[in-house]
Amino acid sequence: MPRRIFSISLCLCALFVVGACKTGASGSGPKISDSEVPVSYQYTVVGPEGAVVARAITSSSTCPKIEVDGVSIVMKPRIDSEVPCFTQVLVCEHVIAKGAGRASIEGQDLALLQERVERVVIIGDTGCRVIGARKQDCADSQAWPYSRIAAMAAKESPDLVVHLGDLHYREGANPNPNNCGKPSAGYNWPVWDADFFEPSGELLTRAPWVLTRGNHENCDRAWKGWFYLLDPYPWHAVACVDYSEPYGISLGDMDLLMMDTAVVPNGDREVDADALPVYDEMFARVGELVSEGRPAVLATHRPIWAVVPGGDKVYYSSHTLAEAVKQGGEGSLPEQILATFVGHVHALQFIDFDDARPSTALIGSSGTELSRSMPQNLAEVGAEVLEQLAVTADEVQHFEEFGYGLLSRSDDGWLLEYKTAPDEVLLSYTLPIPSAPSE
Ligand SMILES: [Fe+2]
Repeated sequence: MPRRIFSISLCLCALFVVGACKTGASGSGPKISDSEVPVSYQYTVVGPEGAVVARAITSSSTCPKIEVDGVSIVMKPRIDSEVPCFTQVLVCEHVIAKGAGRASIEGQDLALLQERVERVVIIGDTGCRVIGARKQDCADSQAWPYSRIAAMAAKESPDLVVHLGDLHYREGANPNPNNCGKPSAGYNWPVWDADFFEPSGELLTRAPWVLTRGNHENCDRAWKGWFYLLDPYPWHAVACVDYSEPYGISLGDMDLLMMDTAVVPNGDREVDADALPVYDEMFARVGELVSEGRPAVLATHRPIWAVVPGGDKVYYSSHTLAEAVKQGGEGSLPEQILATFVGHVHALQFIDFDDARPSTALIGSSGTELSRSMPQNLAEVGAEVLEQLAVTADEVQHFEEFGYGLLSRSDDGWLLEYKTAPDEVLLSYTLPIPSAPSE
């Protein structure tokens, strides 16, 4: 039986919390006053119903102050216990009240969610792959370009940053989620800092972030860092959960729906019968988040319908998710959903389906080494897959380039662009906004 969705499914992971109510970072540095707390990183993550959570990461044992519309208070530790493998830092948070006009930590302004979002930067699969014998050169911004991509994306002046998952890639030769590993590779703070926070640079503070968990952050891998640093939900328990509840965020006149597909048993190439009811329920929740007459886009890590290169063959991903969509409800996603934004495959891909399915906007090449090349003769070697997906080879636009996505308002909808740089556009497509029903 699949584990019950959204419950605290007890993975065979080490308990996250040890020690009793010891707050803060390890070390016994000098006690400093609240007004002098050094902040290594500050950022905002957006959660259910657009709640904006301010986070601050400090090497101090106390949390800094946050000022919201002139009122100053001390932030709270995200978890009131020491977190193994993250003892160098203390993560503090504060949920910013809806409608707040200005917020800052130690004098530095925080990015808040605008009522009407105009420009959304979308990135995915960003970490530097160091696992087993596979190693990117993390010191070379050509080989691992996440810092370059993030810097270019920041120049787009986004109102919102969407990360489609798989942030943590430095796992090492013998990864074990029950061990912290080494500062160069493992499941610990220095690795999260090197793989995500430091290279995110200006993008981290330019706009609020909304993130979906990738399989690299699942309960067998980098889940501790995910839940401690980036999960938008309140701290919930002492163990990892396989499935987080979907949620929606208003961008003004369109909604962004978030769904957690970090765990798809048996990979992506076959239907996992046990997982189908779980995803049936997930998609049903997504359907409940769709509002009458309002367009939406769905962001999740694993593609529902994408062509994936696999050496001299191709396959499609994900059979389980596609089957769950097919079997559930109307046999498709709600018609208001214009596109699914997905990652997982390290490339840029776009598919505009002829039938009722929303477009696939795959953006998974924002840093991690690129996937294997798509065979040149896709129509031949991928005939079966193309038939299963009901598309022609010409309808699959696939780019083997590092890059990011930009979704911006245009006169007749939302303009989606795939870019390798601010002035280098690989793809330009307008998501047509359905006209509102007449009164
Ligand atoms: Fe992935």
